[in-house]
Amino acid sequence: MATTNSVPFHEMDGWIWYDGKLVPWQDAKLHVLTHALHYASCVFEGERVYGGQIFKLREHTNRLIYSADLLGFEIPWTADEIDAACKETAKANKIDDGYVRPVAWRGSEQMGVSAPGTKIHLAIAVWTWPSYFSPEARTKGISMVTSKWRRPAPDTAPVHAKCSGLYMICTLSKHEAEAKGYDDALMLDWKGRVAEATGANIFMMFGDNKVVTPPTDCFLNGITRQTVMELAKKRGYEVVERHVEVAELKNVKEIFVTGTAAEITPVGKIDDMTFTPGAITKALIEDYDRLVGRVPAKASAAE
Ligand SMILES: Cc1ncc(COP(=O)(O)O)c(C=O)c1O
Repeated sequence: MATTNSVPFHEMDGWIWYDGKLVPWQDAKLHVLTHALHYASCVFEGERVYGGQIFKLREHTNRLIYSADLLGFEIPWTADEIDAACKETAKANKIDDGYVRPVAWRGSEQMGVSAPGTKIHLAIAVWTWPSYFSPEARTKGISMVTSKWRRPAPDTAPVHAKCSGLYMICTLSKHEAEAKGYDDALMLDWKGRVAEATGANIFMMFGDNKVVTPPTDCFLNGITRQTVMELAKKRGYEVVERHVEVAELKNVKEIFVTGTAAEITPVGKIDDMTFTPGAITKALIEDYDRLVGRVPAKASAAE
């Protein structure tokens, strides 16, 4: 079974779905002159398996295909085939609760900026990955520091693709935050407004009933973000998509981030401002846990 533990990812055991068939984990290799490695012609997904079911699988598969389209290539498998392959890989690795990583990329047939003749590959790995942030984060909240790097303007990059190239900014920001002792970085948009975290969207509570999240004009419209907006509306909260200036953060009552890996994680600190996870965050965490089928008692025991 594939587990993270302290074993390097390339030394784990299990099965990886690679261009149409399951291969032993450690044999899932590619050539050093792979176009994707040099020119970032690579898209991927991050999905979670809960109790044997991949949450919002079709939405993730559709986004993978869309991301590839934005990068100018077509994945040579249909959405049905990709869904089936994700399920097959989770099953082969006997993972009922874990993380699914489909990845598609341009191969090594051509080297250079222009490489329309490269073969398009698809691989899928699944592993156990219980908590993105520390277990205490769910109650106490994470700490964030504002990054010097910003989300790029929509006319400078394919900002709605979940593509490896755009994660260079996230890794730089996250490394910088961790080096300063923070859990994550707050990323501003190209105009200096609140945008998102390095691997999650952000929600801010103004007053007792208003849930605000920035419009996704220069970053991913997360599948978790969309789910949480629906849950918040069902709870009767007013959900508003609008730009938020950094100066407004001092008026915010609660903040949380959302993502497939992060799920709903409260934010306890941004730079020198502190926030206390409150009733809205707690209610939405409960709703999200129920939706994904997590048994609350088991989750708190595990954490
Ligand atoms: C930069 C970034 N923003 C937002 C998200 C949230 O997306 P989702 O909820 O679809 O996982 C992710 C995670 O994929 C991400 O990496």
